[in-house]
Formats: sequence, C-alpha cells, structure tokens
Amino acid sequence: MAIRNIRVMGDDVLTKVCKEVTMMTPRTKLLIDDMIDTMYEANGVGLAACQVGVLKRIVVIDTTGEDLYVLINPEIIKTDGEQEGYEGCLSVPNMSGVVKRPNYVKVRALNEELRPFELEGEGLLARAILHECEHLDGHLYVEHVAGGVNGLINNEALMDNSDEE
Ligand code: NI
Repeated sequence: MAIRNIRVMGDDVLTKVCKEVTMMTPRTKLLIDDMIDTMYEANGVGLAACQVGVLKRIVVIDTTGEDLYVLINPEIIKTDGEQEGYEGCLSVPNMSGVVKRPNYVKVRALNEELRPFELEGEGLLARAILHECEHLDGHLYVEHVAGGVNGLINNEALMDNSDEE
C-alpha cells in the first residue's frame, strides 16, 4: 500500500469521464488500498480514483473515521430533501464553498468482489456520495458554488470568522 499523489484543480484528469470497472485485478485491488490510505493520510472523507490520476469508476468514502465504503461503478438511484453547507475537496486544497445538495441519497454500486449492493446516506454521507460520484464524470463541487471558483473562500478566513463574537 502506498500514498498516491492527489491531483489538483487545473489537472486535465479531473475533467475526464471515468471508465466502468469490469474485472477485479490485483492492480485494481492495489489502487483501492492506496486510495483508502491516501484519503486517510490527507484527512479526507472521500476520494475518487481520478483524483489519484486513474480513470476508473471507483470511490472510497468514510465520513466518520469508522465507516469505510468502497463504491465501484456507483449509480445514484434516489435523492430527496435538501441541505446547504460548506464543502471542500482534496483536489481544491484549503478552500471551501457553500453547496446545496439533496439531504438523502440512495446509491447502487459494486463492492470489491464486484457484487452489487445499495447504500443510503443522509447529511454528510449523502453529500460525500454525491460529491465523489460527480468526480467520476469529471465534475468538481466548485461548479455548484455560487460564482464558481470566485465563490470559494479560504478555510483560514472561515476559521477567523468563527472566532468573531
Ligand atoms: Ni472531491
């Protein structure tokens, strides 16, 4: 297992549509293990394969530090409700922006044995699932922030604000 280099906004690989996984190979297993290590090392709650430069439809998510999900070829099959909150991305370092998302999501995906399963999420988990799945189609959350990149704020500014009385 190894930590892989996380690609940042501006890198072409983040704008590509990823390809479906049709076979589990040792190489793909290693990729998944590396993605998990890379996500935890970077203190992220999710990571898509294209963020480490591999155009495969694979995402890893852990919003609590204890609930790791590996989603292969994920498909959003249901969304409901609405939430609005700050969102960030390991490929857009040190920045956040306000994004409106459904508060509930149901996703169908394959596990590491390529067996289908469904996962439901609310709140942060729903946000993470939607965010990561968008990466697989070449999209970044900044597209949903009012004003795009100009609507992002530096996280240090966010922290400064929270100190104000
Ligand atoms: Ni991201």
